[in-house]
Amino acid sequence: MSTREEKQKVVCVSGGAGYIASWVVKLLLQRGYTVKATMRDPNDPKKTEHLLALEGAKERLQLFKGDLLEEGSFDSVVNGCIGVFHTASPVLLSVADPQLWYVLSKILAEKAAWESAKENEIDLVTINPGIVIGPLLQPTVNLSVEVILNFVNGAQTFPNECYCFADVRDVANAHVLAFENPSACGRYCVVGEVIHCHDALKILQNLYPTLHLPDKCEDDKPFASKYEYSREKAEALGVDFTPLEISLRDTIESFREKGFISV
Ligand SMILES: NC(=O)c1ccc[n+]([C@@H]2O[C@H](COP(=O)([O-])OP(=O)(O)OC[C@H]3O[C@@H](n4cnc5c(N)ncnc54)[C@H](OP(=O)(O)O)[C@@H]3O)[C@@H](O)[C@H]2O)c1
Repeated sequence: MSTREEKQKVVCVSGGAGYIASWVVKLLLQRGYTVKATMRDPNDPKKTEHLLALEGAKERLQLFKGDLLEEGSFDSVVNGCIGVFHTASPVLLSVADPQLWYVLSKILAEKAAWESAKENEIDLVTINPGIVIGPLLQPTVNLSVEVILNFVNGAQTFPNECYCFADVRDVANAHVLAFENPSACGRYCVVGEVIHCHDALKILQNLYPTLHLPDKCEDDKPFASKYEYSREKAEALGVDFTPLEISLRDTIESFREKGFISV
């Protein structure tokens, strides 16, 4: 690739050190992009080391400070980029019902993004994953894989709930495919499988018979799934969904490799 072409392939990944974003950065580097990754503290090795170790990082990864709570923080970084993968998201934990506020914040953020895109004639596509699991590149546990880690680490009961699982590699791939396909439009649900927690734990137990997983449901109410989903639109984009068993296995293997569990 010539220097001129390389210049044309500059993209930004906000919150670049995060769980999903790190995989997006990895795929983009593999595909020859120059990646400007933002994080609140680019001097924190916990945020940067795993990114700097990626193939192509030495030549084409640049790290920048970016904080969503600081007006104008991203202006100079996104300037000159042909695309922005916006994954950064402040997390509210000191409220009465964090899950509810999180969902509300995501709905409002997406609504604002669509309004702003329309106003500013930005070509926007959104990727809406379920609970994202799969191997971690970063050294810390994010909220969605923590769900699995808590089960492995001695939870006594499991919730009477269905989970909409998505593999982190599929979610990252969906981001890149949506960016590269000019006909991609609108919202893409990236959910590989909807499964009751009980059945997901059964798969895990079969894979790892020595794990101590909860075998009691937190209540005995009859269960009715409230989720309907379709893989169709994401598959048409080119997402080849990873089987849930592989995602669960690779999550556990990643926990082992990073020393979060010892079994
Ligand atoms: N994981 C899931 O199951 C899931 C499902 C649906 C949607 N999502 C959405 O996907 C995105 C990525 O999720 P993830 O699981 O990869 O989360 P994550 O690992 O926690 O990454 C989120 C990133 O947001 C950044 N961030 C937090 N506050 C910020 C602020 N004030 N300014 C700038 N950046 C800030 C953090 O970056 P630094 O600490 O490095 O600054 C962090 O790396 C989020 O928008 C999340 O809501 C995730």
